[in-house]
Amino acid sequence: TILILDFGSQYSHLITRRIREFGVYCELLPCTQKISELSWKPKGIILSGSPYSVYDQDAPRLDPEVFTIGVPVMGICYGLQECLVSIKPFFGVQFHPEVTHSIDGKQIIKNFVIKICQAAQNWAMSEFIGKEIARIRAIVGEKGQVIGAVSGGVDSSVAAKLMHMAIGDRFHGIMVDNGVMRHNECAQAKKMLVDKMGINLKIADASDRFLGNLAGVTDPEQKRKIIGNTFIDVFEEEAKAIDEECAATGHAPVEFLLQGTLYPDVIESISFKGPSATIKTHHNVGGLKENMKLKLIEPLRELFKDEVRELGKLLGMDDELVWRHPFPGPGIAIRILGEVTKSQVEIARKADYIYIEEIKKAGLYRQIAQAYAALLPIKAVGVKGDKRTYEQMICLRAVETSDFMTADWFPFPYDVLKKISSRICNEVNGVNRVVYDVSSKPPATIELE
Ligand code: XMP
Repeated sequence: TILILDFGSQYSHLITRRIREFGVYCELLPCTQKISELSWKPKGIILSGSPYSVYDQDAPRLDPEVFTIGVPVMGICYGLQECLVSIKPFFGVQFHPEVTHSIDGKQIIKNFVIKICQAAQNWAMSEFIGKEIARIRAIVGEKGQVIGAVSGGVDSSVAAKLMHMAIGDRFHGIMVDNGVMRHNECAQAKKMLVDKMGINLKIADASDRFLGNLAGVTDPEQKRKIIGNTFIDVFEEEAKAIDEECAATGHAPVEFLLQGTLYPDVIESISFKGPSATIKTHHNVGGLKENMKLKLIEPLRELFKDEVRELGKLLGMDDELVWRHPFPGPGIAIRILGEVTKSQVEIARKADYIYIEEIKKAGLYRQIAQAYAALLPIKAVGVKGDKRTYEQMICLRAVETSDFMTADWFPFPYDVLKKISSRICNEVNGVNRVVYDVSSKPPATIELE
């Protein structure tokens, strides 16, 4: 294992990514990590860049043991400067070999990791499956029970599949139908996860409850809060019911919670942000009430998104699931500007289905990072079948991005847009115009709310 110590550079996670590409396992930890507290000995250490200068008064400093445990050390930018003020010999560069634009950057990192540190190239996804299943079994034991929310997206599906492989029906997946999911979402998830993969999944239809709680609400933040809180209530009720069922059949109570947390979330919560920064909690962990007292299991916590997709493929999942665009927890509710009602959801859902169908037909789905149709609350005049109409507008959004932090709008061929627009206007009642959102992020965001 190679240890990367993070001084807060925006590129730190890319060092990890590059090393994984050579098949070498590595871990990124904050620069404040005490070497004596590691449970393993690294084969080599890389020190990341930083927004600080080593001359700053509050510049982050390393545990001096980094330089005395007798393994090669390589500094990148700030890391190099940190070596300069601490030891010689060491390896270092005053630029960022981890970014793709650096000529031969990858080779520099490879030479350090493979030739100098002699790290083993044994990080492979096929091995990951076996190791992770063994790890889960060791944690959960022979009788333990696990619950987890499943959304129909790739992360939670892959996590659920691994859990099912490890402990079978002692994993209880819960899918909450919040009434603002896409067309056929629950049915599709059931087909894939239950019928095809055999996962023990309970679909809780709480759509009326969600829509009831959303009635009359137009403020975006309030919508998000209501959906988040209702989700927690429903999930906890379902979890309690499963727990009681387990107790009635003489099984152990539910003790563990499965989460599909990915490595970028872990990095986000552990990476070094300077002395004043608060550490962010995983966004998909927060929320569940303290009294649930469940222990977390996160099988994907070491993986990047593309690695999860590779894993999904190895686990036999359909391309359709593996390559799905991300879908936000608050679903279509944040794609309907204004009040969310059953009829508005129907319109947005139908338009979105047509839009995605045409994108797939045009062979563009994988080039686009995320696409959806939103429903605008304004009306305009139109004409359909010789009759005047006064109906709503659909706003199409499609973006290209690698990290979802910044994004560009997707340059659709005109004929594809034309087909989509014509189908939506003809097939979706209540809509007589379609507009395409040509805003990048920033200043816009990917979602409309
Ligand atoms: P924005 O709109 O912030 O979106 O540019 C960036 C990415 O995050 C997703 N997103 C969410 N995902 N819960 C989620 O699970 C949310 O509340 C949420 N809000 C935005 C969005 O779909 C995009 O991929």
